[in-house]
Amino acid sequence: MPTALDRPASGTQLVEDEKTADTQLPSSNNSYSNTLQQQQEDDNGTKKSRVTVIGSGNWGSVASKLIASNTLKLSSFYDEVRMWVFEEILPSGEKLTDVINRTNENVKYLPGIKLGKNVVADPDLEHAVKDANMLVFVTPHQFMEGICKRLVGKIKGEGVEAISLIKGMEVKMEGPCMISTLITEQLGINCCVLMGANIANEIAVEKFSEATVGYRKDKEIAERWVRLFNTPYFIVTPVQDVEGVELCGTLKNVVAIAAGLVDGLDMGNNTKAAIMRIGLREMRAFSKLMFSSVKDNTFFESCGVADLITTCLGGRNRKVAEAFARNGGKRSFDELEAELLQGQKLQGVSTAREVYEVLSHRGWQELFPLFTTVHEISAGRLPPTAIVEYSEHKPKFSLVEGSDKYY
Ligand SMILES: NC(=O)c1ccc[n+]([C@@H]2O[C@H](COP(=O)([O-])OP(=O)(O)OC[C@H]3O[C@@H](n4cnc5c(N)ncnc54)[C@H](O)[C@@H]3O)[C@@H](O)[C@H]2O)c1
Repeated sequence: MPTALDRPASGTQLVEDEKTADTQLPSSNNSYSNTLQQQQEDDNGTKKSRVTVIGSGNWGSVASKLIASNTLKLSSFYDEVRMWVFEEILPSGEKLTDVINRTNENVKYLPGIKLGKNVVADPDLEHAVKDANMLVFVTPHQFMEGICKRLVGKIKGEGVEAISLIKGMEVKMEGPCMISTLITEQLGINCCVLMGANIANEIAVEKFSEATVGYRKDKEIAERWVRLFNTPYFIVTPVQDVEGVELCGTLKNVVAIAAGLVDGLDMGNNTKAAIMRIGLREMRAFSKLMFSSVKDNTFFESCGVADLITTCLGGRNRKVAEAFARNGGKRSFDELEAELLQGQKLQGVSTAREVYEVLSHRGWQELFPLFTTVHEISAGRLPPTAIVEYSEHKPKFSLVEGSDKYY
């Protein structure tokens, strides 16, 4: 009996693309780097793609695992997946990169999970991207400006495509700059995005979930990304709405801070559901005010409502915000992040500040009371309890002409 989870990957042709058995790595291979394939084209004569993942945290490592399982199977990709690692020295005195390559595990950010023998950790950013024509960006967003600067002029050239799995944005004077835009502007390459209800540790143990690829124009490129990521337990759907998909992934972290505060105040499920509904409404309004091209349907994809739910129920932003409220706002988010996340990065607080900068620059604070209140609380200007007191200041639609149609 088929189940709801037996759906085929949308728009993909996995069967035609499959590698024949003799082009796959033997399962006992322990020194992958010595067995690089020489073949430059797939069985249909199409140039093969070489993938590099830039980032190796919790999600970066899981993304590498997903990709590596597919590059082994699909003839349009080289087997090897290079993963750029921000080098760290472990308490044992060893380099993280050396340990990943020896054990095939990211012992710091994804312990206990084998990445796949064809994942090669590389601490040299320039070297890691040298021959790649498919670049997967997956670092905390605050490091992206620096990474892009280091990559200017170092990308292979024509035909290079990027995808960003990064949730967050840069704020410039003229407004928000999405990470996909930063990549395109700084490196001169097209950039899709992949977002969704994707708590990395759950995907690492192959529990079923979905994701959304946002693309700008070229559906064929979106489908290549879908083929690279899609597995029976990770179903990827393409949507022609880069900004909508990316803003969903970014803004839900602000709502997750609000949800965590509500948990820390022991307010219960009704309050949390209300916060999620109001948050989703502000996410949609903000996205559409920023980019009129954003589509309503995007909010019903995995990147929208599903990611919002999972992040407000689990996830690191919720967890740290809960601790913040339980401590009555007396211990800072920075201190709690360091204590509770062990090197992982919190996104919601910095995104709330960035969103607030956009709102205050445009005089829109009263139009977005939830986003504004989250920032005021995390900046220490309001107590955690303010998160449930904001019915006193309902959105003032009249502030921006026509904005009521976005709510
Ligand atoms: N973890 C998840 O469940 C999840 C799910 C979906 C999306 N994301 C998004 O993926 C992105 C990456 O998150 P993650 O979970 O892979 O990372 P992480 O928070 O687990 O790890 C932090 C990473 O940053 C690196 N780092 C530290 N200092 C650095 C520096 N100065 N320059 C460059 N890198 C540095 C660390 O080595 C580590 O790889 C984020 O935008 C996050 O929002 C995460």
